Amino acid sequence: SPSDPNLVARARAAKEKLGDKVFILGHHYQRDEVIEFADVTGDSFKLAREAAARPDAPYIVFCGVHFMAESADILTSDDQQVILPDLAAGCSMADMATSEQVEECWDVLAEAGIADVTVPVSYMNSSADIKAFTGRNGGTICTSSNARRALDWAFEQGEKVLFLPDQHLGRNTAVLELGLSLDDCVLYNPHKPNGGLTVEQLRAAKMILWRGHCSVHGRFDVSSVEEVRERIPGVNVLVHPECRHEVVTAADHVGSTEYIINTLDAAEPGSAWAIGTELNLVRRVAAAHPDKQVVFLDKTVCFCSTMNRIDLPHLVWTLESLVEGTVVNRIRVDAETEKFAKVALDRMLALP
Ligand code: 13P
Ligand code: SF4
Repeated sequence: SPSDPNLVARARAAKEKLGDKVFILGHHYQRDEVIEFADVTGDSFKLAREAAARPDAPYIVFCGVHFMAESADILTSDDQQVILPDLAAGCSMADMATSEQVEECWDVLAEAGIADVTVPVSYMNSSADIKAFTGRNGGTICTSSNARRALDWAFEQGEKVLFLPDQHLGRNTAVLELGLSLDDCVLYNPHKPNGGLTVEQLRAAKMILWRGHCSVHGRFDVSSVEEVRERIPGVNVLVHPECRHEVVTAADHVGSTEYIINTLDAAEPGSAWAIGTELNLVRRVAAAHPDKQVVFLDKTVCFCSTMNRIDLPHLVWTLESLVEGTVVNRIRVDAETEKFAKVALDRMLALP
């Protein structure tokens, strides 16, 4: 639906008054009405780098979800303030790994005698606490655009990887990009004693996958791929690596949001594409390529509801508050957590 013109005018006026003092980051899954005001858009990797590269802006408004704003706070200086326009914009996947559960898992690995040879690799989509755990225990963060490089690095440091919290990104990268087998992977269930695994299973595994997933991407299934191939002969199926393994295997291409955008930019006019990721992004990609046929992979899958919590009214409130000298919804990671989370994030930023 078109944005309220009054709110658009207010957002414009507030942004103009703030000038260089405010820098607005917008994740690709944000609504159009929000993306319109973003100084830079990107996937989570690009936005983490952009936040780190803006030392002059005292206010960073992060239009995305909570873990992204935390990462921006970790990567920016102490006098920069990171703001999340709606504090309810969380991520159900990040919530699937709490620090108590992960510490308990590390104890289970230690009891099995394998903690010393295991390197934690945590997806960006995790809380600052999990990132700090990762940094303290010799591991790195990854995003969907550098998961392969992160795993290559981790297997140079140790024999096994504990991959948190997205089982699908972990499995898809290990099997499809590193050439491990499905049998090399085990699934650690934090709700079961010992993760639901025997000591033998843990010792035999190369990849210990945390049992987390994205509720948006988890809904695509193989029948959607089959259906779209039947409906549009010659269609290219392109999905995000947070999709289930059988969906990714059935697709033609897999990659992060940034990869999806670049692939469509480079695609031949007249080609047909079915995309399996969040709907705001797919709609924008479709609108940007009227010379190509771009469809959504599955009609039953839709927006990420927490990403969508950031809307124009929240953005206007945030910006007008800044104009009045009030910082609302600041996201602040405590110094101790920040120190170790930064170790893990810096390892990611230094990956080749
Ligand atoms: P990327 O931005 O890394 O592609 O991740 C997608 C996502 O789910 C963000 O929450
Ligand atoms: Fe989290 Fe999935 Fe939403 Fe990304 S799309 S923020 S992983 S719930």
